[in-house]
Parts: sequence; structure tokens; C-alpha cells
Amino acid sequence: MEVKILYATETGNARDVAERLGRECSRNTNNDATAAAAAAIVSVLSVDAYDPRLLPREEEKNLLFFVCSTMGQGDPPKSFEKFWKFLLKKNLPLGTSLPNLRFAVFGLGDSSYEKYNFVAKKLHRRLEQLGGKSVVELGLGDDQHFSGYDGGLDAWLEKLYVKVFGSEFYREKIVGFKNKLDACPIEVSVVRDGGGMDDGVNNINAPVETRRGVMRAARSMATEEVSSCDDTNNGSYWRTLKVIKNECCTSESAVRQVHHIELDNRCTDVHDFCPGDVLEILPCSSNDDAVGREVLDLLSNSIVVKDDSDNEYRAIADAENLVVSVSSHQSNNPYVCLAKNLVAYFLDCFSASPRSYFFEVCAYFANDPLEKEKLQHFASPEGRADCYQYCQRERRSVKEFFDEFTSVKLPLEWLLHVAPKLKPRQFSISSSPSQHRNNDKTHVDLISVTVAVAKWTTPLKRLRSGLCSTWMAEKLKAGDDVYARVVKSGGLPYSDTGAMILIGPGTGAAPFRSFILERCSRRNFDDKILMFFGCRRKAEDNLYETDWEHVEKWSEGNIKVVTAFSREQEKKVYVQDKIRGDHAKEVWDLISRHEAKIFVAGSSEDMPARVREAIRDVCAKEGGMDKESATRYIAELEVKKRYFVEAW
Ligand SMILES: Cc1cc2nc3c(=O)[nH]c(=O)nc-3n(C[C@H](O)[C@H](O)[C@H](O)COP(=O)(O)OP(=O)(O)OC[C@H]3O[C@@H](n4cnc5c(N)ncnc54)[C@H](O)[C@@H]3O)c2cc1C
Ligand SMILES: Cc1cc2nc3c(=O)[nH]c(=O)nc-3n(C[C@H](O)[C@H](O)[C@H](O)COP(=O)(O)O)c2cc1C
Repeated sequence: MEVKILYATETGNARDVAERLGRECSRNTNNDATAAAAAAIVSVLSVDAYDPRLLPREEEKNLLFFVCSTMGQGDPPKSFEKFWKFLLKKNLPLGTSLPNLRFAVFGLGDSSYEKYNFVAKKLHRRLEQLGGKSVVELGLGDDQHFSGYDGGLDAWLEKLYVKVFGSEFYREKIVGFKNKLDACPIEVSVVRDGGGMDDGVNNINAPVETRRGVMRAARSMATEEVSSCDDTNNGSYWRTLKVIKNECCTSESAVRQVHHIELDNRCTDVHDFCPGDVLEILPCSSNDDAVGREVLDLLSNSIVVKDDSDNEYRAIADAENLVVSVSSHQSNNPYVCLAKNLVAYFLDCFSASPRSYFFEVCAYFANDPLEKEKLQHFASPEGRADCYQYCQRERRSVKEFFDEFTSVKLPLEWLLHVAPKLKPRQFSISSSPSQHRNNDKTHVDLISVTVAVAKWTTPLKRLRSGLCSTWMAEKLKAGDDVYARVVKSGGLPYSDTGAMILIGPGTGAAPFRSFILERCSRRNFDDKILMFFGCRRKAEDNLYETDWEHVEKWSEGNIKVVTAFSREQEKKVYVQDKIRGDHAKEVWDLISRHEAKIFVAGSSEDMPARVREAIRDVCAKEGGMDKESATRYIAELEVKKRYFVEAW
């Protein structure tokens, strides 16, 4: 039997789940009770690496498991698009297209979104419609569950394993895996531990080269794992941009600091981009001495390496100069680099929280019985909620974990495999490309982003801050390097003509600043733009106030910016109140007579839903519709590509 596990992910959670599923399905012995599992050949791959034309030919003895998340406003991750397009083909007869397909679907989503787990639900329904047989009911993971998506996953996996492999499999392979260890897919061998560097590894000294080198090392470890930091992902390349300026655009009293950061694009080959595109940025800790020391501390105190002479693990003698060769079982292409750079540039050991498999592996390597027991509890289905509380909710990092569980001595290859990977973050570009073209109009020289610093307190009142936004706002200064790439906009397709209603509270203003300045730079004032911006107070976080004033003047009223200051008066006023209130007629006129496109960007909490309700109310009142018709009217606007949302 073959088990194929296909995942579609945007930020990596679905891949983590798919890998867990793959690992657990592979845990077979030659025990009779688990014969079905023992015979299974398991593969885990991103759904875009699977040719959908194979689907109708899948044999009945095989199983296909899908793990997919829902992003945007009910949208699939990019990697899912080709597969989904195939499934929607009209020439696939209902009921008989997938006669032998046996499948199961697990979705990852967040029930605070209107279209909760939309993609998994649609996929499950469509596979059944086409004649596929679901071996277990649809499973749903919810970010809102007190154990995160693991809450739904554990129960679903148990049902799945019992159905497919029998109850013995679940008991013996999953619950009873405590004192065994899977094979580690990454191999590390020590090239040099102690002393200086030899000529063969000199190139890894320069910081930028090191980053690129580490990415190559990452690729040589496991191609699947590093697509997020892969040099060539999505056809766009990682480049180094120098910071021109980094200025805070909020007052000291503002609850959330926002920084406007300008980057020099003159020396890159990113010649152009479109308003609405985003800059993907890899957070960096290399220019921070404190983090550099922490990396060495982590390597020296908690990580061990195998001594080739006797195959025994031992502590690292010289973490500063430890040079290793890394490779994966899949790719026979080892890469030689400094271990400290791998930890600093490839892993996120100082901010992100590890997931439950990390605890399972660390339990195996714990030397203290009490620590071992606690870690085994964290890794078990019964300990899932405690683990989530300890880890995700408290946002405990790998480093904090090792500070507490001092008896765990983890081999470097396992650290590379199970610690969270450093993930890039996306920031909407807030500058206009046309405004910053060079003299011969062949290249855009400057790119800006608008970064809100994420800070919050955990349930145990620990102050935490977001890795990338804090680094960018608080550490970056003119002349520093940022490792980034431009990614095409999926959610906010800009066009040079046509009326627009732009709704961007907070940093949602960033892409719309780019939209508006682009129209201004092209002197295209023929079509009206109505922008709604929201913040707390005029004197605190009124982002880009002077820009708005200028564009209103230049455009002689064709561009209008309406601001909602939520805390300036007793009753809170948000963008949705402004849309529904004084500006309802204007909004309806733009929608109904000027065929305006509506764009919404900003916080993904409940803003997009509240804005949608406000637009529905405007359509109902001003357009003389009942609520149901107005709801349908907005759905039609969406279908006609006149209503777009990008939320984060
Ligand atoms: C298409 C797109 C465009 C974006 N554009 C922008 C933009 O223009 N400007 C901008 O500032 N951001 C933007 N973002 C968001 C940005 O990518 C990052 O997610 C954000 O900056 C936080 O990253 P970080 O590394 O600082 O935080 P991380 O280290 O990634 O931590 C963030 C995580 O911490 C947790 N967390 C954060 N705050 C809290 C809280 N209050 N309570 C509990 N847990 C919390 C959450 O789990 C959250 O996912 C955009 C995102 C997308 C997808
Ligand atoms: C910008 C953004 C939009 C999202 N939109 C939805 C949505 O419409 N419906 C939903 O159920 N979950 C939504 N989610 C939640 C994700 O599906 C959830 O966090 C999931 O674990 C992400 O999995 P991934 O890392 O595999 O992409 C959204 C999350 C983000 C960050």
C-alpha cells in the first residue's frame, strides 16, 4: 500500500501536520496486528508537486491524505491552485471520475474567520462528488481551540489510524512510541571543532554570503522544508537591500509603534513591481551581539555532535568555530558551514515556539528522569493542552526551553530537524514604483514598508514581542542590510484606471498609499478614489497624514481621504461607521455609477467582516435592497473581481 500525504500551506502549519502524519504512518514494525501499516510506503509532498492527472488513476489499495489550510478570506494557499483548477474541470463526470480514490482531508483554519476552513470543506465535498471514498470524516483544526489545531488533529488522527491501520497501530505506534526514535532525515558531520578555519570554508565569513550559503545548506538538508527560504521560490529571488531611513511615525503615547522604513533598491535586479505587491523579509539576528552570544551559549550548553572517531556524542568544544557538513537523506549534496550561522540564519531558536514533536524528541534525549517524564507527557495526546499552554500560549522559545530542561542534550542534526525554522514575513509595499523610477525609467530605486511593532503579554503576564517587526523597527538603521524579495500581490490587484474605494485602517494604509501615490505620480486623476483610514487618535497614530493632505490637494478633490479616529470621542468610531454614516451616499454612488472596485486591507481580526457588513448596509439603504439581496450583491461584486480583501 502507498500512502501519499499532500499538503497545501502558506505559513507552514499544514506541512507540520503532514510531516507528523507521515512520520506516524511510517512507524511500522513487523507485528501482525499492524500488517497494513507495515506494508505502507509513505510519501509527504506539497500538493503542487503532485500531478493531479494521476488522481483518476490512483489504485484502490492506496490512500491519499490531504492537509490544507485556508488563508485570505476563505482562499487556498498558492500551492493548491493548480490542483483545485483540475478538480473543477467541467469534463470530470460526477460520481465516476475518481472511482478508486480512497482519501481523507484535514483542514487548518481559524473559526474567528467568516469562511472557517473553507478550503478543506470544499475539497472534501468535491472529492466525494467526483466519486472518491472518504475513509474518515473531514477533520478540522482550529486556531481558536485551547490546544490550537492539535486539538482537532489528535482526535481525527486516532479515528483515521483505527480505521485504516487498526486499533493496535494507534496504541503501539503512537501512544507507545515513548522510548523509540524515528530516523533523523538530516545528517551532520563535524568538519572542524576548535582552532581557526581552514581554506575550504573561508567563504562563510561574509554576512550576506553566509546567509545565501546557509540557504544553500538548508536546501541540501531537505528541499521540502526550506521552500519558505528557498532562493527561487515563486520565481522571485532574495536580494540584499540597504536601509535608507527608519522613522517612527507614531507618538510615544501610541499603544502600537509604527515605523516607516525606506530601502535602497538601486543595486538589485528587481527592476519593477506593482502597487499591492508585498516585500517578504527574512528577520535577522546576525547584527545583534546579544543574539550572537545566545547562539554560542545554546550550542555550548545544550547541543551535542557526533565524534566520527568513536560515533559517540559529545559536547561542542568551540561553538564559535565549529564547522559542520550538513545533508539530508533525500539529497546527497552536503554543505559545509559554520554551525553558529546555521542556528542564527536557518532556525528560529529565540522567538518562535517549538511544536509537540520537538518535545517528543527532547524527551528521548533528556537525561533527568523527571524532565523525561514531563516531556513525554507534553508529547502525548493527553498532555497536548499542557504543552500548548507551556509553549504556544506563553510563546516559549527553544532557548528558553533549554534553559529550563537542562538535562536535554540534543544532537545538532535533531535541532536542525525539529526546531522552528526562521520564516520570512510579508509587508505590503507602501511606496509607489513610478514615483521612484530612475532617470531613464528602467529601474525602481526605492521601496518602503510600514511596520507595526507586535508586542503583547502572555496569560502568565510575560511581555513578548514579534521577531521581525521588533527587529526592523528597533534595530535597523541607515546602512544596514535587509534580506528580502518582492512577491506579486495575490489579494490586491492594482489598476491604473477606474474608481476605487480603499479601506485600510492601521497598517492597512500601506498598500493604499502605494495605490494613491502611483495614481498621483502618473497624474491620473480622472477616476475617483475614496480612501477610509482608521486609527486611535489624530496626534498618536495618524499615519501618513501629510501625504493624504497633499494628494487631496493635487487631485483637486478626486482623491478623498476620510479618517476615523476611534478614541477621540466617548463612543468609538471605526472605518465601518464612517462608511455606513456620513459617507454612505458617496460610497453607493461610487459602487453603482462609477463601477468602483472595493479594496480592504489590514487587521485580520474582525475588521474585514465589520467592513463587509457596513458596505452591505450601504447597498441595502442607498440601493433600496433588503439585507439578503445586499449580501448577494456583495458576493457578486466579489465574483466580478470588484471586492478584494487582504488581511493579516
Ligand atoms: C499579505 C500580508 C501583508 C502584510 N503587510 C503588513 C504591513 O504592511 N505592515 C505590518 O506591520 N504587518 C504586515 N503584515 C504582517 C507581518 O507579515 C507580520 O505578521 C507581523 O509584522 C508580525 O510579525 P513578527 O515577526 O513581528 O511577529 P511574530 O514573531 O511572527 O509573532 C506574531 C505572532 O505572535 C502572536 N501574537 C502577536 N500578537 C499577539 C497578541 N497581541 N496576543 C497574542 N499573540 C500574539 C501571534 O501568534 C502572531 O502570529 C502583513 C502580512 C501579510 C500576510
Ligand atoms: C492572513 C490570514 C488569513 C486567514 N484566513 C482564514 C480564513 O479565511 N478561514 C480560516 O478558517 N482560517 C483562516 N486563517 C487561519 C489559518 O488557516 C490558520 O492559521 C492555519 O493554521 C494556517 O496554516 P498554514 O500555516 O498551513 O498556512 C487565516 C490566517 C491568516 C494569517
